[in-house]
Amino acid sequence: MYTTTIGNYTKETNFFNCTTPFELINEFDSPLYVYNENIFRKRLKEIKNLVKYKNFVPHYSVKANTNIHLLKIVKDEGLHVDTMSPGEIYMALASGFSSNELFYIPNNATQDDLNYAINKKILTSVDSLSQLKLYAELNPNSNVAIRFNPGVGAGHHQKVVTAGKKTKFGVNMSEFDEVKKILEENNLTLVGINQHIGSLFMESDAFIESTTNLLEFAKEFDTLEFIDLGGGFGIPYHKQEGQKPLDLIALGDKLDNIFSNFAKDYGREIQFQIEPGRIIACECGIVLGTVTGTKQNSDTTYVGCDIGFNVLARPIMYDSYHDIEIYTKRENPDLINQPVTVVGNICESGDILAKDRALPLPEYGDIIAIMDAGAYGFAMSSSYNQRPRSAEVLICSSGEVKLIRRRETFEDLIACMK
Ligand code: LLP
Repeated sequence: MYTTTIGNYTKETNFFNCTTPFELINEFDSPLYVYNENIFRKRLKEIKNLVKYKNFVPHYSVKANTNIHLLKIVKDEGLHVDTMSPGEIYMALASGFSSNELFYIPNNATQDDLNYAINKKILTSVDSLSQLKLYAELNPNSNVAIRFNPGVGAGHHQKVVTAGKKTKFGVNMSEFDEVKKILEENNLTLVGINQHIGSLFMESDAFIESTTNLLEFAKEFDTLEFIDLGGGFGIPYHKQEGQKPLDLIALGDKLDNIFSNFAKDYGREIQFQIEPGRIIACECGIVLGTVTGTKQNSDTTYVGCDIGFNVLARPIMYDSYHDIEIYTKRENPDLINQPVTVVGNICESGDILAKDRALPLPEYGDIIAIMDAGAYGFAMSSSYNQRPRSAEVLICSSGEVKLIRRRETFEDLIACMK
């Protein structure tokens, strides 16, 4: 067996079910993305049942994790999906979703991007006047949706705040007259409006404020069939410090109120949608890696491992924090925490997973696990430094471990150059 020297998320959630991190690395090699089906389904159900309002169709934002085996579970749980590129549309259709279960919300789409969705009969939301004009040229006399900027943004980092004054996203509400003109001139019917204010908020205030703004504005249009409020619902990355999850019950109650009041004012029970990615996929996934050793430089103790930013890009990209667990087979391991900096194997000094983190000192052969890596983990990974991308495995509810994406090979690295 093995000892977990720090953290207890995987123990508390029975994450490894019938297997162990050592068995997994033994069989599938390192580094390795591991997902737990029970946790994934639990989150899908929570989102599906967020509100009591009848005409509610939650979408899973596939950009967070696009593994086809996970998408099939999303379909099985009855959610729809939002996509942002032809590739995401391709993946969603390949996992069994039908066109009317997809919503396409691209940004700076080319003609080819738009035509891809038009040919597949997927409803598209455009997010600028120029994109609306382009869409009108390609597909006049049709239905369209528009992403508006509700004026209020939120998110864990400026890079992922997608509403307000400093963002490339969304049509401004002040552009209302021009929007109406383009719609009328091209016989386009505005069937939906949407927002996405940014990614990862733990308090719902900004989301409720932007939603209130959007719904007030929605009353200007009488053709709407749905309103989509976007994603952005956060998860507690600091569980080891006792961080609490977003209060979904309170949020659901607020939304229920807002939805039914809007339905009264609008005169019908319009469809409401949300499209979260992170809150659904994040906590069901971790990355396992191998500790390669420790070293001292000046006053920093480095713990090295094989999880570089090619495997998990979030820390270098946003200074993101992820809880860490360490597993060892050593007898009587030292459990005393000391400040260490955990780094990967990429040839850049920025390749840091965790800075000055209090951890017990691991040794070569111990396994390091990065928590909450199911969203924007594998999806943002690369083969930088010519490290083939990791494998992904799913610990099924039955306890069976399924390889859901094989590890890339050196052949894969060269395949597109042939
Ligand atoms: N809808 C739209 C239009 C989006 O752009 C996004 C995320 C979502 C929904 C889902 O947002 P979520 O519920 O997952 O927060 N790579 C960053 C996050 C980027 C989010 C991009 N858009 C990260 O790792 O934190």
